[in-house]
Amino acid sequence: MNNVLVLGATGKVGRHVVGQLRERGRRVRAVSRSSPDRFDWADRDTWRPVLADVDTVYLNVWGVVGVADPAEFTQLAARSGVRRIVALSGRGDGGEDFLLTTPYGPWAKAVADGERAAQDSGTEWTVVRPCWFAQTFEEDPKLSDVRAGEVLIPVGEGTVPFVDAVDIAAVAIAALTEDGHQEQVYEVSGPRAMTFAEAVAEIAAATGRDITCVPVRLAEYVEHLVDRGYDRDAARAQAGPFQWLHRGNTGFLSDGVLRATGREPRDFAAYARRAAATGVWSASGVRRTSRSGVSGR
Ligand SMILES: NC(=O)c1ccc[n+]([C@@H]2O[C@H](COP(=O)([O-])OP(=O)(O)OC[C@H]3O[C@@H](n4cnc5c(N)ncnc54)[C@H](OP(=O)(O)O)[C@@H]3O)[C@@H](O)[C@H]2O)c1
Repeated sequence: MNNVLVLGATGKVGRHVVGQLRERGRRVRAVSRSSPDRFDWADRDTWRPVLADVDTVYLNVWGVVGVADPAEFTQLAARSGVRRIVALSGRGDGGEDFLLTTPYGPWAKAVADGERAAQDSGTEWTVVRPCWFAQTFEEDPKLSDVRAGEVLIPVGEGTVPFVDAVDIAAVAIAALTEDGHQEQVYEVSGPRAMTFAEAVAEIAAATGRDITCVPVRLAEYVEHLVDRGYDRDAARAQAGPFQWLHRGNTGFLSDGVLRATGREPRDFAAYARRAAATGVWSASGVRRTSRSGVSGR
């Protein structure tokens, strides 16, 4: 397996997948709507060209909602000679009725569809199903809160074992480049279930800044996002996954990183130190360096 197509190549996981593949000397076609080889779920004319001479696909369905069915793409990929598909999915997005009936539903359904599209494509397949990314704190709306020094927490004591995107990418890399990962669903988490307040405390320690947490109700959180400029539907969709945390049972640990790579996942504190060093969380929002490849927008 040599020629790998990476969808969502500028994404939080995708950029690390591209980097780690290139470090291994693989030929990579890295695509998104903003890449020179443009790929847009909404524009089928862009699908066939990016599949030329590709035998392996990293599938990220972000952007598919309302414009396409991932199965159309994976079927086309199989007909074009693709022999292996590794799908980025999401914990709790695999078709749980609850998530599907929240405003987050269309996104949750897209991810579940992406899993099935890989599994039903007739190619070798692997599903990488992570929980909440640690890098969530490097993009809005959490990023603005962290920079402002006050983070609204609409989840009470619900816990999440935040996982580092670098570790998610490592699982994907194993599946993309090695044999023995076929027909595996890798549930991927970090090593420690944390409340959002504990995660913010790690960020405060890593940055040396005072960052307070403000517990709010979900409805207040939606209003906060509307005040920040989100339209109401987008604000509700952002709040959707937090509803899931209110139901509990989100803090369980998964062994996907160990199973796929043979090593333990990194702790949130190590991630926070690495991200803090880039300056992404400074009050002025100025980044000092991105040499580690830590994401941030
Ligand atoms: N974030 C989390 O905590 C988390 C947790 C579990 C699972 N997930 C899942 O992981 C996946 C990635 O989510 P993310 O939030 O982390 O996003 P992301 O991968 O960081 O970014 C989205 C990527 O998709 C590309 N993209 C956006 N719209 C597109 C379109 N219409 N056509 C083609 N490419 C498009 C973007 O690049 P351009 O803008 O250049 O097109 C970017 O590269 C999602 O399926 C999500 O459900 C996320």
